[in-house]
Amino acid sequence: MSGYKTQIPPIKCQGIKSKLVTWIKAIVPSDFNGRWIEPFMGSGVVAFNVRPSEALLADSNPHLINFYQAITEGKITAASTRSFLEREGAKLLQSDGQHYYAIRERFNKEGDPLDFLFLNRAGFNGMIRFNKNGGFNVPFCHKPNRFAKAYITKICNQVQGIVDACALGNYKFQCQDYATTIKEASSGDILYCDPPYIGRHTDYFNTWNEEQEKQLAILLSETKAIFILSTWHSNEFRTNQYIDTIWSNYDIITREHFYHVGAKEDNRNPMLEALITNFNTHYEEKKEPVISQLSLLDMQAQHIIADKPSE
Ligand SMILES: C[S@@+](CC[C@H](N)C(=O)[O-])C[C@H]1O[C@@H](n2cnc3c(N)ncnc32)[C@H](O)[C@@H]1O
Repeated sequence: MSGYKTQIPPIKCQGIKSKLVTWIKAIVPSDFNGRWIEPFMGSGVVAFNVRPSEALLADSNPHLINFYQAITEGKITAASTRSFLEREGAKLLQSDGQHYYAIRERFNKEGDPLDFLFLNRAGFNGMIRFNKNGGFNVPFCHKPNRFAKAYITKICNQVQGIVDACALGNYKFQCQDYATTIKEASSGDILYCDPPYIGRHTDYFNTWNEEQEKQLAILLSETKAIFILSTWHSNEFRTNQYIDTIWSNYDIITREHFYHVGAKEDNRNPMLEALITNFNTHYEEKKEPVISQLSLLDMQAQHIIADKPSE
């Protein structure tokens, strides 16, 4: 194992692949020097760790894209993040947490990217969720002293990490549907696709169903680029039916991922994660399990996946 430390981005999201980054990086062809394209960028953790010289990172959620665009335009820096979080964090503490809801109301009217960061880092379980009118509706994490000095420093270092990554390469962030992004890929590019898993939560910017999975497969079968698709393979209750149907013509490698629920050592839910590719990865399976904390939302999702075999 190399001593590589995964760089964590400032915005968290459900399904973030921080624990799988090293595995994904290991299958990127060593002679790759094209564009790295992500139609479902989420937090961007994969791209920011692959560190390509050119990237197109897209998502249907405009707030994620606005945040990263503000960084590339120099509107958000580590210093501006620090003064913002120190000011708003102090108000949060004084208000015994009520200020979270004032920021949420302001964000839902004005959509400021620093307010989005504040809500993402002080909201329950770092979730991103919007109601049917597009309003952010995650409740407060119930820690009025959320923005203690060390936590602010950690977030500012994460912002600086993105500033540095964007300065080294040519990174474009676009809010658009995955179909548009996939059609922009050409020979020599890599498409890394990490769509929401079918059966997981849906909200205003984030839905996924069988029709979209099929549409994704058609678009990927037509692309001249090479692709890596993240999906789930199986858990203790069932197997992802699309692996042997929609995705059966491609290469597949799997890796066990233990989602850790709560504090107890033995409270682990094994899930086999899959990477599907249209090229031979020559990857030797390693047996080291990956462990990550499961949010309540993911627990609910696993429950849904386990309970609805026909989905
Ligand atoms: C599983 S997350 C990606 C996680 C990301 N790979 C990471 O590690 O942080 C899926 C992302 O797809 C986005 N998304 C959902 N539907 C989409 C669509 N139709 N077009 C583009 N993006 C979409 C969601 O907003 C979400 O950010």
